[in-house]
Amino acid sequence: MDASSLAERRDRILAPNYFHSFDQPLHLIKGDGVWLWDSAGRKYLDCYNNVPCVGHCHPRVVAAVCDQTRLLSTHTRYLHENIVLLAEHLSATLPPGLDAVNLVCSGSEANDLAVQMARAATGNQGILAVKRAYHGSTTLAKALSTFESVTEKRPQGMPDWLSVFEGPNPYRGPFREDTPDIGAKYAALVGDALDALLARGHKPAALILDLSFDADGVLAAPDGYVADVCARVKKAGGLLIVDEVQAGHGRTGRMWGFETYGIVPDLVTMGKSMGGGYPVAAMVTTREIAGKFVERDSYFNTFGGNPVASAAAKAVLEVIEEEDLLARVRDVGPYLEAGLRRLNARYDFIGTVQGLGTFWGLDLVKDPHIREPLPASEVSRILTLLASQGVIAGVQGVHDNIIKIRPPLVFTRDHADLCLQALDAVFSGV
Ligand SMILES: Cc1ncc(COP(=O)(O)O)c(C=O)c1O
Repeated sequence: MDASSLAERRDRILAPNYFHSFDQPLHLIKGDGVWLWDSAGRKYLDCYNNVPCVGHCHPRVVAAVCDQTRLLSTHTRYLHENIVLLAEHLSATLPPGLDAVNLVCSGSEANDLAVQMARAATGNQGILAVKRAYHGSTTLAKALSTFESVTEKRPQGMPDWLSVFEGPNPYRGPFREDTPDIGAKYAALVGDALDALLARGHKPAALILDLSFDADGVLAAPDGYVADVCARVKKAGGLLIVDEVQAGHGRTGRMWGFETYGIVPDLVTMGKSMGGGYPVAAMVTTREIAGKFVERDSYFNTFGGNPVASAAAKAVLEVIEEEDLLARVRDVGPYLEAGLRRLNARYDFIGTVQGLGTFWGLDLVKDPHIREPLPASEVSRILTLLASQGVIAGVQGVHDNIIKIRPPLVFTRDHADLCLQALDAVFSGV
């Protein structure tokens, strides 16, 4: 089926909430490592997809899924080695005490369950979250996700148990890059959000943080900020949920994003990269917290942690270790960053470059002095031009003006060079 009739049939039969990444939809049919091919045989460097973190169709992950699919796939109410081996391996990558593993199917389910457990463990209902964060699509995870304008798309507003605060954005937020003690100033906003929550009669059950601040534009928190924020919430009796769906599985050059900031969560959620393409996600907490939850509630997930999903997730952990991908990110990340900063110095319309590891955002502006975002239509045109140069990137941010670079972890310096050359070629024509 050719791409245009496929797009037409897709639009006719799928619900209208589906959208395409590009105005001219891509019809991808094959992936291998950092490469993708479309139905016309064109090859693309994938600078965007984090789900295949060990590379598209990694042979080890493919073999794990195929071998286990041939043998057995059923739920978790029978004994099976895979789920136990995976849970042990996962827990060993986390700080001591995070040893009660729940396997689910999506990041949304992981966050939903984390909130349920935090509420059960504390007896409180209040949740603190970063404004414009994204934590998923279940009713509960969606309520925490204020990345879309609450007034336009959700006229009913936010639930009274939720209090949001501005994330640490030195380029666009209330405190700009030259503000002294910027970390402490942003952290004080959490104090305000906490007060607002208490004033509405809710003690905090938890703070939820995506430490890549992805939906807010891919931010790197200033020194001291994350620890300060967490200390404030803990002091008020709340638990700390770290959403590692984006930052986890090596994206920052460490296994978990929270390691960068020297904090230890009470509950940690993960997904996306976890199965290298196979849907699997997890929520890990302490036995004490999970124990309190199970005293008054229960949880079962039909597909979560099935033998195939567990085999995929176990293979991904093994590949990350055996191919030393954290070291790869620590090498390629700064190399990519340096190249992006060179482009920033050359092109006025790159307002700022922000991020960590191999996760970068280029905030594009119409006018660098007033930081007016480049219109989304212009950014979309740039992404289409990039794709025509054989490079796939994404878009992020409330204004849809931030180019997002977030390649599989197997990205090398040579791949970074190709990405930077394509960006340069497209930018020089803008
Ligand atoms: C930070 C974060 N949390 C949670 C989710 C939800 O994950 P899923 O789409 O697997 O439900 C996402 C998805 O984009 C995410 O970026």
